[in-house]
Amino acid sequence: MNDTEIIAREAEEEASAAQDSRALYEVKMKFLGRAGKVTALLKSMKDVAAEERPAFGKKINALREKLEERFAALESVVKKRELESRLSEERLDVTMPGRHRKQGALHPVTRVKNQLVDLFAGMGFEVYEGPEIETEYYDFTALNTPADHPARDMQDTFYVTEGSDDNFLLRTQTSAGQIRVMENKKPPIKILSPGRVFRSDDDATHSPMFHQMEGLVVDKNITLCDLHGMLGEFARVMFSENTKTRLRPSYFPFTEPSVEVDVSCASCGGKGCSLCKGTGWIEVLGAGMVNRNVLKNCGIDPDEYSGFAFGMGIERIAMLKYGINNIKLLTENDVRFLEQFKD
Ligand code: PHE
Repeated sequence: MNDTEIIAREAEEEASAAQDSRALYEVKMKFLGRAGKVTALLKSMKDVAAEERPAFGKKINALREKLEERFAALESVVKKRELESRLSEERLDVTMPGRHRKQGALHPVTRVKNQLVDLFAGMGFEVYEGPEIETEYYDFTALNTPADHPARDMQDTFYVTEGSDDNFLLRTQTSAGQIRVMENKKPPIKILSPGRVFRSDDDATHSPMFHQMEGLVVDKNITLCDLHGMLGEFARVMFSENTKTRLRPSYFPFTEPSVEVDVSCASCGGKGCSLCKGTGWIEVLGAGMVNRNVLKNCGIDPDEYSGFAFGMGIERIAMLKYGINNIKLLTENDVRFLEQFKD
């Protein structure tokens, strides 16, 4: 009959030794669980003489209630202690300074390229990107520049390999893409072709790799006036609302007539300064009416169609727009320089 006292003492000893809620739960199950000692005691009731049963049952129930209360009390103490230790372990100092992440920005050449694409896309141009490794045929021959033509010397070319019937080279001009487009598409054609070009050139305003933006329009009744109008809009958007443009006669084998396009100098407003070398004008691109021979080379009838083309150096536009005086700054990746082009 003093089983209940023994069990009570045992439970008290084990429960108060339990260090955490898990251990405490195990002790509780050992006594109050389905296979627990108190439960076993209740089951043993059937072996007790009938007249002793009520007293026996009462005793066991009292024991169970007492243990349940005791476990509940211990549980709340242990849980509180566990919560406190978690809170102190996982404490965050919200006043600590954050880690500074530097925000990147687009390279000035990329910015100008994107602006040009936006501008001309708004006038209905589609973007075509040709290959950087070209053949002599696309870079020169089809552009009305045969092998013995002196204009080949206008651009110092990097040759890659000699092919059996055509030589590979790094394209010297995005004009090569004009041919690829005209070979594959019938007029009306209105494309814009940005990309890298390569020339064996190296000084403050020339680098062996730079970017060009080519434009080509071929349709019926296209005139030099259309070219002038479109480039006037380009100059006003890229430089300023008051920028004027003028066309000067020039020479390119693949255009006839050919022009150099000047914009009024933004730095002196046309009066003449050191930037424009006293002329009031700055040259920004080459252009012209697509040479009849070039149209013919691409299977387009020059009596039915005419077109204009223009090509500009993106670095040059970026240098003028942002007042950059050395092209090398654009490839040195000096963060102090690049950081100035954040929005
Ligand atoms: N391809 C010429 C150059 O690189 C520029 C140009 C393009 C001129 C289209 C006329 C027409 O200098």
